[in-house]
Amino acid sequence: MIIQTRDIGKTFGSVLALREVSMSVEAGQVTCVLGDNGAGKSTLIKILAGVHQHDTGSFLVDGAEVRFGSPREALDRGIATVYQDLAMIPLMSVWRNFFLGSEPRKGLAFDVATARRVAREELRAMGIDIRDVDQPVGTLSGGERQSVAIARAVHFGARVLILDEPTSALGVKQAGVVLRYIARARDRGLGVVFITHNPHHAYPVGDRFLLLNRGTSLGEYRKGDITREELTGLMAGGAELEQLSHELSHEPDRE
Ligand SMILES: Nc1ncnc2c1ncn2[C@@H]1O[C@H](COP(=O)(O)OP(=O)(O)OP(=O)(O)O)[C@@H](O)[C@H]1O
Ligand SMILES: [Mg+2]
Repeated sequence: MIIQTRDIGKTFGSVLALREVSMSVEAGQVTCVLGDNGAGKSTLIKILAGVHQHDTGSFLVDGAEVRFGSPREALDRGIATVYQDLAMIPLMSVWRNFFLGSEPRKGLAFDVATARRVAREELRAMGIDIRDVDQPVGTLSGGERQSVAIARAVHFGARVLILDEPTSALGVKQAGVVLRYIARARDRGLGVVFITHNPHHAYPVGDRFLLLNRGTSLGEYRKGDITREELTGLMAGGAELEQLSHELSHEPDRE
């Protein structure tokens, strides 16, 4: 077990963002965090990532309690986070972005040849087919940009990869591409935390599922203990959605 939270709680002023939430992240497994808007998903992963600190409960990394003072501290423990607004510079090339802030050097000079080669190799090792690492990141699709960010985190030695809604802005095909890279990162032994509000994205890649509803945990389930239908039903609004789709598909004929 790399990460474990036990009954973690967090308030912002009078807002109870999280209440007694327990979850775990294991090497070579994908933990999905599901919930509707405002459920507390981002708050939870920001605690893991060192952006926020919990008020109650405990947060353990490698079995020992921690409290990160900054994202740097989380990164030093191998916990890397890919946010939706990826910290990338659109006009810069793929390989420049890959090494942003950690450029390989040859003496004092930026080692361009190495950077281009390593970026190309790492992308290929993740099965990412970028035609040309010299092309500006701004010309990539949303799914490809997410994929570059995932490959970058893997290259820089992440043990835990946290992805905050990487598929929510994507079409079906691109979401599929990102899900494949999540599986690839898992197969390379990383513990992946995948935040989504889409049970159909979570179910195929997830090993365990944490469901949040207004800051409260509805439980952490192992895949063998829950079906896709049960997962969908447990999601906040799941029942309403079923009802809605029923209504919409049985709209009385107006003619
Ligand atoms: N920095 C903050 N200051 C005050 N309130 C906050 C802050 N961050 C989050 N909240 C509140 O905490 C609750 C949970 O928010 P959070 O962003 O964790 O939800 P979420 O599950 O990520 O939602 P979404 O699916 O919309 O991204 C919300 O009521 C939100 O308004
Ligand atoms: Mg969020």
